[in-house]
Amino acid sequence: MTNITDLKRKFMEIFHDEQVRFFYSPGRVNLLGEHTDYNGGYVLPVALNVGTTVCISKREDSKICLTATDLAERVCAGIENLDAYRKIKWGNYQLGVAYELLKAGYKVGGCNMLFDDTVPHGAGLSSSAAIECATGIALIKVFNPEKDVDRVELALLAQRAENQFVGVNCGIMDQFASVMGKKNNAIFLNCKTLDYQYVPLNLGDYVLVITNTNKKRSLADSKYNERRSECEKGLEILKKELPDITCLGDVTVEMYESVKGIIDDPIIEKRVRHVIYEDDRVLKAIDILNRNDLAEFGKLMIASHESLRDLYEVTGKELDTLFEEALKVDGVLGSRMTGAGFGGCTVSIVHKSAVEEFKALVGKNYTEKTGLVPDFYVMETDDGSREIS
Ligand code: GLA
Repeated sequence: MTNITDLKRKFMEIFHDEQVRFFYSPGRVNLLGEHTDYNGGYVLPVALNVGTTVCISKREDSKICLTATDLAERVCAGIENLDAYRKIKWGNYQLGVAYELLKAGYKVGGCNMLFDDTVPHGAGLSSSAAIECATGIALIKVFNPEKDVDRVELALLAQRAENQFVGVNCGIMDQFASVMGKKNNAIFLNCKTLDYQYVPLNLGDYVLVITNTNKKRSLADSKYNERRSECEKGLEILKKELPDITCLGDVTVEMYESVKGIIDDPIIEKRVRHVIYEDDRVLKAIDILNRNDLAEFGKLMIASHESLRDLYEVTGKELDTLFEEALKVDGVLGSRMTGAGFGGCTVSIVHKSAVEEFKALVGKNYTEKTGLVPDFYVMETDDGSREIS
């Protein structure tokens, strides 16, 4: 995270105000349970030690003025007129959160906000959720001091800002992980009920290495929506035999195996099979992590990637190459794509003594095979949204 003294100086240079408070929300990486959240299934993300810091002070008028440390321009929006800012190039995520807070009955007043991000953009590590959740906690705490922050509600508000104000379809995982993260723990979340549980992640001599394909994700949004509608079709078909289900997350492997013949369309069948078995892997992972059996957990990660590659078809050459090359390195327990896919990152569990070799070998072979140069981030887990001083 950027040094707070430097940020404060920068804030004063821009807004000439000393009455500043600081809030922070992290990015995330999902360890298991991909493309399950919008199916009411299970996910297992961790919050990372990169995120968004926002400096905020109140204004006398009713404008929300936003800028960022890596941005020359400033956006100033009237609170009565937020609707007009849905499609702006930068600032709509923040204004969307303000809009959703107002709709939910929170107070929001004029303020200056300076954003500083350390989550790599466009990498699938939820830089958007970090911005939304940092904005949300800042506006709630500054303008509603009498209220306790309801953290699950904050995550839902942030998701609504992204879905309805900005217009990006996403599940609840990213915002939930950003708000609820806990150092040295993964969050086991039931995305249907929003019941959750922390699961200890004791990496010992291992670290999480995140590898960025650095591939531009041009088709990601349309393919994401296509997968969602394929799952909806699958659900409708399964309901004929299983009338009580309301989402694919309700379907266990046993239930699915007894009725799967009714899905004729081989594409729909593959999509559904991925979701059902991926949910099952997450359930298995809870015991495995509680026993601290990282080797067994690594095997689930590998099976997850293979399913995302062969059944859900959201990987592509770059992610598959990173996955294959990672598994060739001694000291790697598991590796998989993480996030929506079609580019973005893989996450691998790597022995500390093998990290340099991992970077060298995976980097060299990836570039040879794809012509792209990857980035490697050795990251730690962290806590969720909070005020910092
Ligand atoms: C993106 C979305 C999440 C989730 C993942 C896939 O990151 O924002 O809600 O659907 O893809 O697991």
